[in-house]
Amino acid sequence: MIWAHLQNKSGPPAKLVEAVTKLSVKEIKLSPLLSVLAFWFLFLLFTPLAASENNLFKLTPDIPAGKYLFQAAGGCGCHTDTKNNGVFLAGGRPIKTPFGTFYGTNITPDPETGIGNWSDDDFIRAMTQGMSPEGVHYFPVFPYTSFQGIRRKDLLDLKAYLFSIPPIRQKNIPHELILPFGEQYALMFWKNFIWSPQPFKSNPENTKSWNRGAYLAQTVAHCGECHTPRNLLGVLKPEMHFAGSKEGPEGELAPNITPHKQTGIGSWSEVDISYFLQTGMKPDGDDAQGLMGEVIEFGYQNLQEKDLYSLAEYLLSLEAISNELNTDLSN
Ligand code: HEC
Repeated sequence: MIWAHLQNKSGPPAKLVEAVTKLSVKEIKLSPLLSVLAFWFLFLLFTPLAASENNLFKLTPDIPAGKYLFQAAGGCGCHTDTKNNGVFLAGGRPIKTPFGTFYGTNITPDPETGIGNWSDDDFIRAMTQGMSPEGVHYFPVFPYTSFQGIRRKDLLDLKAYLFSIPPIRQKNIPHELILPFGEQYALMFWKNFIWSPQPFKSNPENTKSWNRGAYLAQTVAHCGECHTPRNLLGVLKPEMHFAGSKEGPEGELAPNITPHKQTGIGSWSEVDISYFLQTGMKPDGDDAQGLMGEVIEFGYQNLQEKDLYSLAEYLLSLEAISNELNTDLSN
């Protein structure tokens, strides 16, 4: 009966409810079978029936899968001070933004200066809500606004990979912000009233590979953090999705990558796009520069062919938005 209740979720069986409600405490004591039944009945009543992969099954994290995601995220180059021969993921890399200079943090598993003490939930909170284990709000220069859509299983694999690299003891460098005072209040306000995170939704009307490309582009690979322009409040403009931004991180111009013929990549084929993401070579023979060169070198180039094609399929399916950025460069 209880099993039937579990399966069809049609509410508690009427007879059992009657039996349980009519029983006095004394009767329950006298009737072990009924008390067991009553216990299970109440237990089931108050246990959310929606079984999600998140809380019912503890999956063993998969380190190679985590490494692959790390590469799909562009290799987290902001956390390695490559220019000064910094150690892998030990932080210290300066990133210039209009708000000041941020320094990438140590994300090696060192317990004191890195993230070695973080629990799974700490990691997930940081990646999806932009909050440190101590409750400090991160600036969205850390692209949690895209990472929030990464599936929990993928996040746990990613954490397992990060915890498998050598721990490095290296203290974080404080950010040099233009307006450091009240920054936490401003961020709290921004997160609660301005930012509206949307979970990643797959679209069953599209192909499996399109959905894979959309998931990678919108969440893990966070293409929009550089290629989508922001409004005055620093939020990515949804109506300009991937249409290019003059003020990407480090002040770099990130081109329009919608399939617009004149101002975007409308003349590129799927092969052109996947070849570019793998090698950094554009169809006209130019090399990817700056941050794009980095995300390819440290990450995207390791993606499997089918994922590169999924990304290309997704990009070419986007609405072609006219947004001419290059002409402004000559001003
Ligand atoms: C960290 C910032 C950043 C991220 C993340 C990023 N890009 Fe870029 N991208 C750039 C910049 C900057 C350029 C310009 C590089 C150049 O001109 O050499 C660029 C150039 C490109 C180009 C060449 C366009 C052209 O017209 O020359 C394509 C295509 C592209 N990116 C696609 C992507 C895709 C797809 C993703 C996600 C999978 C992505 N980018 C993620 C910053 C970024």
